[in-house]
Order: sequence, then C-alpha cells, then structure tokens
Amino acid sequence: MSVAKPLPHDAARLHVTGQARYVDDIPTAAGALHLAFGCSKVAHGTLQSLDLAAVRAAPGVVDVLTAADLPFANDVSPSAHDEPLLATDSVHYVGQPLFCVIATSHLAARRAAGLGTAKIEPLPPIFDVETALAQNSRFEDGPRIYERGQANTALETAPIRLSGQMEIGGQEHFYLESQAALAVPGEDGDVLVHSSTQHPTEIQHKVAEALGVPMHAVRVETRRMGGGFGGKESQGNALAVACAIAAMRTGRPCKMRYDRDDDMVITGKRHDFRITYDVGFDATGVITALDVRHDTRCGWAQDLSLPVADRAMLHADNAYFIPNMRVESHRLKTNMQSATAFRGFGGPQGMLGMERIVDHVAGHLGLDPMAVRERNFYATGAAAPPQSTHYGQEVDDFILPGLIAQLKDSADYDARRAQVDAWNAEHDVLKKGIALTPVKFGISFTLTHLNQAGALVHVYQDGSIHLNHGGTEMGQGLFQKVAQVAADRFGVPMAAVKITATDTAKVPNTSATAASSGSDLNGMAVRIACDKIRNRMAAHLAELHQCNVAQIRFEDGYVITPAQSYTFAEAANLTYVGRVGLSATGFYKTPDIRWDRIKGEGRPFFYFAYGAAISEVVIDTLTGENRILRTDILHDAGASLNPALDKGQVEGGFVQGAGWLTMEELVWDDAGRLRTHAPSTYKIPAASDAPDIFNVALWDGENRADTIYKSKAVGEPPFMLGMSAFFALSHAVSACGPDYPDLQAPATPEEVLASIARAKGV
Ligand code: MTE
Ligand code: MOS
Repeated sequence: MSVAKPLPHDAARLHVTGQARYVDDIPTAAGALHLAFGCSKVAHGTLQSLDLAAVRAAPGVVDVLTAADLPFANDVSPSAHDEPLLATDSVHYVGQPLFCVIATSHLAARRAAGLGTAKIEPLPPIFDVETALAQNSRFEDGPRIYERGQANTALETAPIRLSGQMEIGGQEHFYLESQAALAVPGEDGDVLVHSSTQHPTEIQHKVAEALGVPMHAVRVETRRMGGGFGGKESQGNALAVACAIAAMRTGRPCKMRYDRDDDMVITGKRHDFRITYDVGFDATGVITALDVRHDTRCGWAQDLSLPVADRAMLHADNAYFIPNMRVESHRLKTNMQSATAFRGFGGPQGMLGMERIVDHVAGHLGLDPMAVRERNFYATGAAAPPQSTHYGQEVDDFILPGLIAQLKDSADYDARRAQVDAWNAEHDVLKKGIALTPVKFGISFTLTHLNQAGALVHVYQDGSIHLNHGGTEMGQGLFQKVAQVAADRFGVPMAAVKITATDTAKVPNTSATAASSGSDLNGMAVRIACDKIRNRMAAHLAELHQCNVAQIRFEDGYVITPAQSYTFAEAANLTYVGRVGLSATGFYKTPDIRWDRIKGEGRPFFYFAYGAAISEVVIDTLTGENRILRTDILHDAGASLNPALDKGQVEGGFVQGAGWLTMEELVWDDAGRLRTHAPSTYKIPAASDAPDIFNVALWDGENRADTIYKSKAVGEPPFMLGMSAFFALSHAVSACGPDYPDLQAPATPEEVLASIARAKGV
C-alpha cells in the first residue's frame, strides 16, 4: 500500500536545494521581455489622461500599453466582468493598473512604470463600512439573509440577552513566490502560458477572451506555486492576460512577476468583517436565539466576494445548534484592493464571530467558555437524532465531543486551566490564558457545478506511469497524495509514477484547486482513470491465461496471475503487444450535494471536517506583548492519505490562523494607501512565533462519506484552529479586570493593551 504512508513531499529535495522550478525560474529564449504595471495613486476618480512620454523614453522600454491598445476584452474578473485589466475612464483604488510597460528587463520595466503620470479628477472615495452602507455601495441589491426558526421573537423571550460587536481584520496571503506569469507565443496565433495559478482553466479562459481566440488556442501550464492560499485563485489573471497580449503584440516571450510591494498593493486580501450580534441564552449558557450580522468590505470589484460571504454565513454556527438563528450579510463595495479567496474562504470570519459570542456569553455568566461550548454542541451519538444547521444540512457525522474529550485528556486541559487561574491569582504583570476552540468546516465548493475533476493517466510499455490531473500544487502536497493513489491502484512503487505539471491541454475544464477539495476530487478522478487501465490489463492477462479477471492481483510491483507472475513492466508490455490501450481519462463529480444560495437552503457540503486546539498564552500587561506557550491539536483528516503531509497542513494552518488573529495587521491611510505593503511593516509569523510546545496529532477515524480511501480534506480547516490563540488571549486579558475584555482581531500588542483597559473598566 502506498496510501496512508507518511512519505515526504515529492519535491521536498528540490525545494530545499533550490532546484524546484517556479515560473520565474523557467529559462526563457533570448529576447524575452518583462512587464510591469503603472498604478493609480488615487483611490477613486475619473481618469482624464495619462502622460507616458517619460515611460516610453526610459531605457529598455520596448512598448507601453494602455486600455486603448488592448486587442479584445479588457476584463480579468473571475465573476462579474467588472475588472478591467487596465483602467479606462475611472479608477477605483490605489494600486489599480493604469498602463503596462514592456521592457528588456524586470528592473527596466519597474523603473519606467514609476515615470508615468496620470491626470485623475478625484471623486469621494468609500473606505469604511458606515460610508458604504450610507451610500448603499454594495454587491447584490441588498443583504443576503439565511434564517431558521424565529430569531427575533425568540430573543424577546430569552432569559438573558447580550449584544456586541467585533471587528475582524483582513490578511495578506504572503505566499513566498509572488504572482508570476510567462507567455510564449506559438505558431498561428497560439500561446503557451506558464502561470503561478491555482486555476489554470480560468487563466486559459481569460487569456482567450482577451485575445479574442478560442480556448483551444491557449494552453496553460502550472508545475507548482510557492504558496497560493487562495490568493492565486483569481488574482493571477491580470499578469497572465497582460503577458499573453504583450507576447502576441511583440512576438516574443513575455514575463511578469510582481515585486513584493507591488503584489501587496495590487492584489486582494482576506475580507475584513464587522460582526454584530444579539444573542439570547439561559443561565446555564444554552443559546436559544441568535441574530448575527456580517458587514464585509469587498473592495472595488466583485471577484469571489459573494461565495466568500456566503461561506461566512454557512459557518456562523461553527459547532453549535442554535434553534432560532438569523444571519444577515452585507457585501460592501469600497475603494480598496478587491478582497479575494483566502484559506477558509470566509469560513474563518463566520466561525470567529460564533466563538466570540460563546466567549462573551461565558464571560457574562462567569463560566469556563468550554462549558458553554459543550452545552450548545450539535447532538451526537445513537440516542440523539442528527440536528440540522441553520441552512438545513443535517450534521450527521458530529465527532467533536469524542475528539475534544481525547484532546482535553492528552493536553491535561482541566488541570492546566486551574494552573493558569492560580498563576493569575498570584501574578500582576504577566497573565496567562488558555482556550480550547473547536472547528467544524464544510467540504465542497458551494457552487455545486465546480465539484468535478478530471485525470489523464498513461502507462508506458516499460511500466512507467505518467500521472496528470486538474489539481495544482502549491506546497500542500496534493501531487504526492494523488500519486500515492495511482501507485496503490497499480500496486507499484512510488518511483514508477511520474508527477507532471497541470496542463489545460491534458485535462480540460477544471476547477480551481480550492475549497480544500483537491485530493477529494482529483484523487477520485485518478483512481477512476487508473482502474480503467488496470482492468484492461487484467482482462488481457486473464484472456492469455484463460483465468478469471478477479484472480489477477496487482501487488508489490508485480501482476500476479494463477499461472505466472509478471513484473508490472512485463505486464504493461504484454498488454501493449496485445494491442490494448494503456491510456485513460478519469472523471469524478461529488455526489449528493445541492444548494440554493439565494434561499440559503440545501446540502452544500459532502461532509464536515473537524478539529480542536488548545492554546496557552502569556501576556505582558504593561506592553500588551504576548506569546503562545503551548498548543495541542487533534485534527480530523479521516483516514489520512499521507499523515506526514496532513500534519504539515495542520501545523502550517494553525500558525497562519494564529498569525491572522494575533499579529498580521493591514493599515490603510486616509487616502486609501496601504501602508503595510512589505515585511518591514506587515508581520507574518516566523518559525520563532510558533508555539514553544506544539503537539499535533491526527484523529484516528475514517470519513463516513465515501471519499478517496475514506480520507478527509485538510487544506483549510486547521487554519481556524488559530482561534484558540485568540481566545486564550481573551482569557488572559479577562484576568486583568472584571469587565468583558471585548478583544478585537487582530489582537496585536496595542489591542491587547487596549482590551486590558476595557477589562479594568478604565
Ligand atoms: N498549503 C500550502 N503549503 N500552501 C498553500 O498555498 N493553500 C491552502 C491549503 N494549504 C495552501 C496550503 C488553501 S487556501 C487550500 S484551498 C488548499 O490548501 C488547496 O489544496 P487542497 O485542496 O489540495 O487541500
Ligand atoms: Mo483556498 S481559499 O479555497 O484557495
């Protein structure tokens, strides 16, 4: 068996020796050109003219493009056709591309781009939630509302009622490889695009639209990304389209990669949210009614904001059954970068809102928040029929109580909580906090038709196997996990399977590698393709040996018939000589899902992934500085396809989630300029920010849903385990005074200090 083994990442050796090839490393032919955008310095206004004389005269500049020079569609939006590649008559944010420089080197292009000037008649910009609401600046006509029961009447009769508000900051993806594309012109109007994208088909589609050619004229190849995290689902379109247009215009290979500052200023980030709630509960902490409102700043273009905001609504319950629940979501249009997909896709924001409500209720009642959590969990076990979510999906696989019991035990939660309280009773300057937070995350794209995947597998006559599928590799280990599936189906060693770059010419019409569904979807498609070939080989050998197909086994590199064993290579060659096809495609679609996003009703998710984390933190009450002392995690990856890679996802996801909530802060000034546009001002967690003690384990249990080898998706869910660090901070601050600390995210040292003052009532 090659599945379930903790094999290293297939490219680990290449990564650490610097040999892994990213788009910027692809050798280009002599004469290749480099692109850079000239961007708006104004947040909102009417574009009157561009003065590009100095740009054109700058050293190395070959050509400069404006919107008027574009051959066909001027649109790089993944959704609403509201995102011109280059601005036409109006500008919508500081950083919006206005023109594109084509030059002989990356530096020449960037330097020249800085020499352009734009005459822009300013219009009043919209930055904050209040202004956007006042001006009804939004996507969709009004708010989206999902409701179950009667939240408002139930609130009125609830024994206790609390309301509150929480600001949740956005987040920069900070993939280590910035966005990049390389377009190589082919013959007869064809183009090959290498793109650092999670969504090669989308790149193919947008390039074809921009050039006015059929999709068959465009081939997109993606070997790997140096991280994507959702930021490369749609935001790479602009670079790929610009390169393709420039390549067709000049007849030369054209490449573009954003400098870090440009990447941060031009591309969209995680949506920030304001969450406002009114909650009704009893004296034991049982929540009976909840009315919650999401206001999210989507930036200037629609991008993926609607499904992101939907997913936030779908996770507004997290792990809790709330009989009367209403979620109202406002998707606001603002003059900032267009917020986009980011690990969890809105789920983290929705879930954080719910956990904050639990924390507030517990604070109000003077209970351990864990007690409130346990009292509101979805029902579980044989005695209790499954309960459904506020959007009508039954939670029939709820494993959190058992998982949490095991985690509490292994992490010694109860004793450590008592120790933290004892510490806080004795110490004034350093206060500690500890929190356990659960995660329930729905797996599937909510846009149901995206839940499909294809694969292409060849067995060559020497028994070596060429593996291709529509998923992309961004460090998460998808390619290795899927290769393990292929090796297992043929019973061959991993070395027999060649992992190849994602290629729109091999597998068409793919979905983005997103929603954590990469291995669920592509693993199944590959299994189906492999099994077709295996069955043909078996049928051929059965005929040769006059035996039953069922008697033929594929094991340990051999194909075993009752009469004789062949090496896999011999069997492949025999099949070839017998004139039987050794190449197959596989196609898979997720069964049993349906969703009406307008009504907010259905079964959008094939299943849920679960996990829980306990974090212990310490704060310095004089400065607000804080650290995570220890984190224990138990995460559900089903029957893991590769426990080493899955643990890596859990560790990385946690640290990225904790970074979002504790240190990463985006700051825009009054003119709408992002002031945190480099690592000098934007702090992501370093290795030294990981918990000092970090125990990560995978839950031992199969997926109840029929997924590839009963595994579960693992890419996004662990991100939300970072909430435990945030609520541990809330706990530490609550030890500083009698009032609820009302901690806002990110809980930077400044925010921790401010919340200490609130807890003290000063
Ligand atoms: N892990 C690494 N190392 N790099 C990434 O860019 N992206 C995350 C997650 N884990 C990411 C990652 C996101 S946002 C998603 S949706 C999933 O991986 C996508 O891959 P999967 O579907 O194969 O899990
Ligand atoms: Mo992940 S945000 O679905 O790319």
